[in-house]
Amino acid sequence: MASILRATRTRPVWSSLARAQFSSSAPKNGALKERLAELIPLELENVKRVRAEHGKKSFGPVVVDQLYGGMRGLPALIWDGSVLDAEEGIRFRGKTIPEIQELLPKAPGGSEPLPEGLFWLLLTGEIPTQEQVTELSKDWAARSAIPSFVEDIIDRCPPTLHPMSQFSLAVTALNHDSAFAKAYQNGVSKKEYWGPTFEDSMDLIAKLPNIAGRIYNNVFGQGKLAAIDPTKDYSHNLSALLGFGDNAAFVELMRLYITIHSDHEGGNVSAHTGKLVGSALSDPFLAFAASLNGLAGPLHGLANQEVLLWLTKMQSQIGANASDAAVKEYVWATLKGGQVVPGYGHAVLRKTDPRYTAQREFALKHLPSDPMFKLVGQIYEIVPDILLEAGKAKNPWPNVDAHSGVLLTYYGLTQMQFYTVLFGVSRAFGVAAQLIWDRALGAPLERPKSYSTAAIEKIFKDKN
Ligand SMILES: CC(C)(COP(=O)(O)OP(=O)(O)OC[C@H]1O[C@@H](n2cnc3c(N)ncnc32)[C@H](O)[C@@H]1OP(=O)(O)O)[C@@H](O)C(=O)NCCC(=O)NCCS
Repeated sequence: MASILRATRTRPVWSSLARAQFSSSAPKNGALKERLAELIPLELENVKRVRAEHGKKSFGPVVVDQLYGGMRGLPALIWDGSVLDAEEGIRFRGKTIPEIQELLPKAPGGSEPLPEGLFWLLLTGEIPTQEQVTELSKDWAARSAIPSFVEDIIDRCPPTLHPMSQFSLAVTALNHDSAFAKAYQNGVSKKEYWGPTFEDSMDLIAKLPNIAGRIYNNVFGQGKLAAIDPTKDYSHNLSALLGFGDNAAFVELMRLYITIHSDHEGGNVSAHTGKLVGSALSDPFLAFAASLNGLAGPLHGLANQEVLLWLTKMQSQIGANASDAAVKEYVWATLKGGQVVPGYGHAVLRKTDPRYTAQREFALKHLPSDPMFKLVGQIYEIVPDILLEAGKAKNPWPNVDAHSGVLLTYYGLTQMQFYTVLFGVSRAFGVAAQLIWDRALGAPLERPKSYSTAAIEKIFKDKN
């Protein structure tokens, strides 16, 4: 396995779909669903060919530690949308974050990529045209209304219920109108699964701003909820629902934020949970609600909330503009207290997360003198050496969550408990794209094998 991973590091493995598309000429005209309908038979053929050629080959040894160790590095899933390399970070359909920042369409006057374009890229491997992205913005705006009973569910939640729990409840309830669940009841053929999955996925993404906005408004009391503007892009509408529609820099931040948080290959908790639950043919609303519940854990998406809590606590204990020595002492106290330093470390990455770097560059452009941003920079100089000295973490470098909260706080979105909801809105893009392709390629029910410790002992008893 090690040699496979090494090979992947130096020469990223593009999907056959991405290869086919990158070698094609200019992006095709037409709507996303029509383009997908053209691509699916090609990819089915590709998968058939790859399985015929390589299906019976061994993919390297599995060691017992991986069974006990959270399956780290275990090759077990297929997802072409994004691939995570331990050294260089994420690539979306073969493209790095700086590349997509350059290539994907922007809003008029904007310089960050529109997440609409990222969704198109994840699904097709192609860079969409400005018109295609505008059509997607309009389509999502047209689908954005949530049923009144879902509004009621959100309104009945006590404000003390964590926003992520409210988010998950509301998304689960959207399954009331699932096109896939209905089609399945009506006996849809396996070959047609992807069509209603696509419709549900588009509805899911489209409805998230109204759900997130309503939760934010209920819990943090911002007054009247804005309405979706069908002439505006997705990030603008989301920002408006949170009360930041007039802040052009915040809207730009949302475009970057959603894009970089959308997908991080298939094995992370939220992406894998969505895929796993979807493999039981649970519809995209049920599958994504499960993803959200995973994202709500502090070792995964909740870390962005935890980082801000940790920074705020640090400032209250050692004051703003604290010396390096005081910060060092605080970091050591965190570790000695048996806690993790939030925002640092990663299960796959072994370098600074390029999603962190993209946010740092945004901060350097828009808020270079913000004291909290400076503190994040100071911590970056201090924490890796301490984690190395402590000798446990395999990756001492910052991940995406080390930076996002500081940017949101700067613009006035100071309610840390809400941060993971924004991560959740973003993660829908990757999970939805994966669900559509899984149903298109006929991905089977997931069912890995578990072993008892006694069985492990028995298996190796005679081999020692
Ligand atoms: C992301 C994370 C869960 C990855 O876990 P992992 O793959 O098990 O990481 P490692 O293999 O490096 O862990 C080895 C040890 O180092 C510890 N470690 C890893 N990152 C650490 C951190 N940031 N602070 C303190 N200890 C850390 C682990 O808790 C583990 O300790 P243990 O042996 O006592 O259980 C882990 O780095 C972490 O908890 N980070 C902080 C939370 C966070 O930022 N999450 C968002 C990730 S995008």
